[in-house]
Amino acid sequence: MTVRSVIAGVGSALPERRMDNAELAATLDTSDAWIVERTGIKSRYIAGDGETTATLAIDASRKALADAGVEASEVGLIVLATATPDQTFPSSATKVQAALGIDDCVAFDVHAVCTGFLYALTVADSMLRSGAATSALVIGSETFSRILDWEDRGTCVLFGDGAGAVVLRSEDGERGILATRLHADGRHNDLLFVDGGPSTTGTVGKLRMKGREVFRHAVVNLADVLGEVLGAAGLSTADVDWVVPHQANARILDATAKKLGLSPEKVVVTVDRHANTSAASVPLALDAAVRDGRIKRGDVVVLEAMGGGFTWGAAVLRY
Ligand code: UT7
Repeated sequence: MTVRSVIAGVGSALPERRMDNAELAATLDTSDAWIVERTGIKSRYIAGDGETTATLAIDASRKALADAGVEASEVGLIVLATATPDQTFPSSATKVQAALGIDDCVAFDVHAVCTGFLYALTVADSMLRSGAATSALVIGSETFSRILDWEDRGTCVLFGDGAGAVVLRSEDGERGILATRLHADGRHNDLLFVDGGPSTTGTVGKLRMKGREVFRHAVVNLADVLGEVLGAAGLSTADVDWVVPHQANARILDATAKKLGLSPEKVVVTVDRHANTSAASVPLALDAAVRDGRIKRGDVVVLEAMGGGFTWGAAVLRY
């Protein structure tokens, strides 16, 4: 038998406030038609007072633990992916730990922007398989609304807030994570970045993006890493039941599926209602497809993402 990290439960959380395209078009030189046609986005959720990356993460984590039937006290590891922590430090992972009443465990944040959940999952999988813990919470949580320039129509219409979490457990058997692959290429730092930070401006800064260039790289990198991770698991696209991609733009999802010869019906799409929630987008979409009964135990599921850095990665698992 092989010890693998199995997704024992999933959960997600969204802010209360939903913002549709018409609301944006009321104050910005944009339109519902442009946003839907160029991105597939119809609405997004925006964190209000008292809703933060940590509070959304805590909510999603509680749901994932309940779904898994795992007590918080059993969690030995918390890895939280975010580019929008509540504070520069302490880590948001330790806030989740405190809220869940876990006295002692390993807890830290990882930062790979939109690829954050794939990085967090890969690190947690490695630590579980090496015996550092037997149960882990892996979370993607973001409040990008707080780093958007609400006067820049090229970026502010694209993003939203939210959180998703999974409980990973090490188990003997056929189910679980079969392979993961991560990449980064820092030469492209200036195509998607935030123009502030504690060590430069001393301010939080705003998101800046050269969208068209990011788009071009995204399709190539995502198709490559999907082929790579399937190869590592000894699988082909024909074996895949579901692809749960990072939700940046419906056109990227379509183009990537086409490049790989994957049927669009196998691609889980939530970008229309969540927009781009960075590190939260993959676990939010996973939770949606598990909840509505599409993803079932035993299905072969591929997760993938690409984001600032550039960073990109993929994981294939038997759910
Ligand atoms: O999560 C990390 C990964 N991020 C991504 O993957 C994002 C990748 N990029 C994209 O999704 C697309 O490039 C965008 C959705 C950001 C932009 O779509 P595009 O088709 O590449 O448009 P564009 O940037 O080339 O802009 C086309 C036109 C421009 O006007 P002109 O110069 O042709 O007159 C823009 O000013 O569309 C204009 N435009 C808008 N018009 C109405 C840009 N944003 C808007 C807007 N409403 N919100």
